[in-house]
Amino acid sequence: MEKQHILTREFAENKVRDEYSNVAWFYNFWSWLTESKSAKKVLELAQIQSGERILEVAVGTGVMFAEIVRRNENGVTEGIDVSPSMMAKADERMKKFPKGRYRLQIGSAYKLPFDSNTFDLLVNNFMIDLLPEKDFPLILSEFNRVLKPSGRIVISTMSFGKRWYHKMWFWISKHFPKLMTGCRPISIKNYLTQAKFDSVESIFISQNTFPSEVLRAKKH
Ligand SMILES: C[S@@+](CC[C@H](N)C(=O)[O-])C[C@H]1O[C@@H](n2cnc3c(N)ncnc32)[C@H](O)[C@@H]1O
Repeated sequence: MEKQHILTREFAENKVRDEYSNVAWFYNFWSWLTESKSAKKVLELAQIQSGERILEVAVGTGVMFAEIVRRNENGVTEGIDVSPSMMAKADERMKKFPKGRYRLQIGSAYKLPFDSNTFDLLVNNFMIDLLPEKDFPLILSEFNRVLKPSGRIVISTMSFGKRWYHKMWFWISKHFPKLMTGCRPISIKNYLTQAKFDSVESIFISQNTFPSEVLRAKKH
C-alpha cells in the first residue's frame, strides 16, 4: 500500500492559542459543516455508560463535551484545552449543567494534569492532526497513562482519502496551512498499536468532501 505522507508541523502552545482566538467565533459553523458526522460516530463508538469517569482532551467550544456530560449523568466528566478563547465558549455552553458533574480547565495534551489509571473513557477530536508527527507517541502514551486498564479511547482526525476532493484537502493543508489552523491529514492507527492500545478499529468518514477517520481502541 502506498505510504501516506504526513505533512510537517511544529507545535508552539502560544501559536495555537493565538490561532484559535482568531477562529473561535466561527469554529462551530466550520465543524458542523465538516466534522459533525464524525462527532456522531465518536459518540456512538464511545458507548458511554452513565456513572463513568470520562476525559475529553481539546474540548474546543464544548459541543461534544456538553453531549458527553448529558449522557454521563451519574458520572464525572473532565475537559481540558490549551486555548482560553475556545475554553471561554465551552464554559459559556456548560452554564446550564450542574457544576458537580463536570470540570473544565486549561491544560495541554503533552502533560495531562491527571493521575495515572483515572478514566474509563478518553475522547479526543481533531487535535492530533495539528501536532508534529514526532510527538504522536508522546501524546498517545499520555492518553494511555491516564486511562484505567481496559479503558477505552475514541479519537477523530482529519484523514487521507481516495477521491480527488479528498486529495484537494491535502493540497489545501499543504499550500494554505494557516487557513486550516495547521490541521492536515494524518494516520494514527499504527501509532495506537505502538502506544499499547489494542482492539483498534477505524472508520473513514467523508462529509461535504472533508475526509476524517474515527478510531476506537482499548488500553492493554
Ligand atoms: C480543531 S479544534 C477541535 C476542537 C474540538 N475537539 C472539536 O472537535 O470541535 C482543535 C482544538 O485543540 C486544541 N489544542 C491544540 N493543541 C492542544 C494541546 N496540546 N492540548 C490541548 N488542546 C490542544 C485547540 O486549542 C483547539 O481547541
